[in-house]
Amino acid sequence: MQGGFFVLLKNRIMKKEQYSFEYEVFASIEELSETDAWLLKEAREVTDAAYAPYSNFNVGAVAKLANGEIVAGTNQENASYPVGLCAERVLLASASTLYPNVAIDTIAISYNNTHGESKHPISPCGMCRQSLVEFEDRTKQPIRLILSGLEGKVFVIRRAGSLLPLSFGSIDLK
Ligand code: THU
Repeated sequence: MQGGFFVLLKNRIMKKEQYSFEYEVFASIEELSETDAWLLKEAREVTDAAYAPYSNFNVGAVAKLANGEIVAGTNQENASYPVGLCAERVLLASASTLYPNVAIDTIAISYNNTHGESKHPISPCGMCRQSLVEFEDRTKQPIRLILSGLEGKVFVIRRAGSLLPLSFGSIDLK
């Protein structure tokens, strides 16, 4: 009886899948192309427009749309903490409202941690990743991400969706 159990386990069909993604790492803004450097500079500057009196963590995001337009977003917090919005989702909502159905080529994201350092790239939180993936899906175009603090290293990710493997999406509701 026990032998049979082990035979069953041995014959079970199991596959392992692997997921990996590549991203580029630049030592500083100086290594970027002129367009990317401009976008990152704008993202760094727009952190001043954030409303983040609770976290003191001002995030700025600036997008270049497929039609050439530029749209920005910053985090907007609230005394009722969960009401606060991340810069990325503010940006996506603005872009989608101002230019409905226009794809986004690239988003540069930066931050100013006014009580700490702002030298290491941050990447979008889980909720924003979910929003970015759906934006990519519905506009049928990958969104490039340029991630950096106010100084230092820059990460470039070819497609926002690569940050959320096995993601849930509209197709799952069909
Ligand atoms: N935040 C963003 O706006 N984007 C991110 O990618 C990470 C976090 C905001 C949310 C909150 O207002 C503050 O940063 C600290 O978490």
